[in-house]
Amino acid sequence: MTTRILVFDSGIGGVTVLGPIVARMPDAEIVYVADDAGFPYGEWEADSLKERIVALFETLIAEHRPDVVVIACNTASTLVLPVLRARFACPFVGTVPAIKPAAALTKTGIVAVLATPATVKRDYTFDLIADHAPDTAIVLVGSHRLAGLAEDRFFDRPLDEAAVAAEIAPCFVDKEGQRTDVVVLACTHYPLLENVFRRLAPWPVSWINPADAIARRVADVAGIATGGDAPLWPQAFREGRVVFTSGRAAPFSYATFLEHGRCGAG
Ligand code: DGL
Repeated sequence: MTTRILVFDSGIGGVTVLGPIVARMPDAEIVYVADDAGFPYGEWEADSLKERIVALFETLIAEHRPDVVVIACNTASTLVLPVLRARFACPFVGTVPAIKPAAALTKTGIVAVLATPATVKRDYTFDLIADHAPDTAIVLVGSHRLAGLAEDRFFDRPLDEAAVAAEIAPCFVDKEGQRTDVVVLACTHYPLLENVFRRLAPWPVSWINPADAIARRVADVAGIATGGDAPLWPQAFREGRVVFTSGRAAPFSYATFLEHGRCGAG
């Protein structure tokens, strides 16, 4: 029996999680949903965004009957994961800032979390810091422009590199000779720019992209959800791998998604 995985983001950022999922579970059926009519999520007020996403999932779950849902968006996960889990029986895997591995990795004790302006204001993020990095200096950097710039990169539009450099600059702190040595990519759009970040960074750092860890978790959860071979909803699925966008007809093919998700274009 095929496992159906619904991967959700505000735009194309979820491809950076989709690539490793498909590599791990090549036979899974994928439904990719980009709520591009609501993009960028980072600029939304929390309550309205919560309402929008829950309402969307009423339809998505009824229509697609996924075995597992992946909220491949930090901005959404840090806001609605508990609500979605309470409301729907289907398992949800989220994407939240990788603060624990960053705190374990840093040598200088200075870690930057690069995310949307909304994610850096969430209680969920503050709780992760309090629980997993109480002794680390965490620099929270909320970027208004990077998600849009990553979409430019993905769709081969000209990339404003000066803008990228300006957006990542606050991550690089030099305090009495101790410098930032780890940057957490806490928005799924950002790995699409990872190679550009590396090139424009004022000094080398470790960039943490949690996509592989999330894919591992999805495979685990899918195993649990299907009990080995029986999906939660064992009806025959209608479509193959599909891409939905809320704002316009799908402007890109699934193959494009995979290609970008795998190579982390830059
Ligand atoms: N990809 C989303 C995330 O991981 C955010 C992009 C947006 O602002 O919509 O946070």
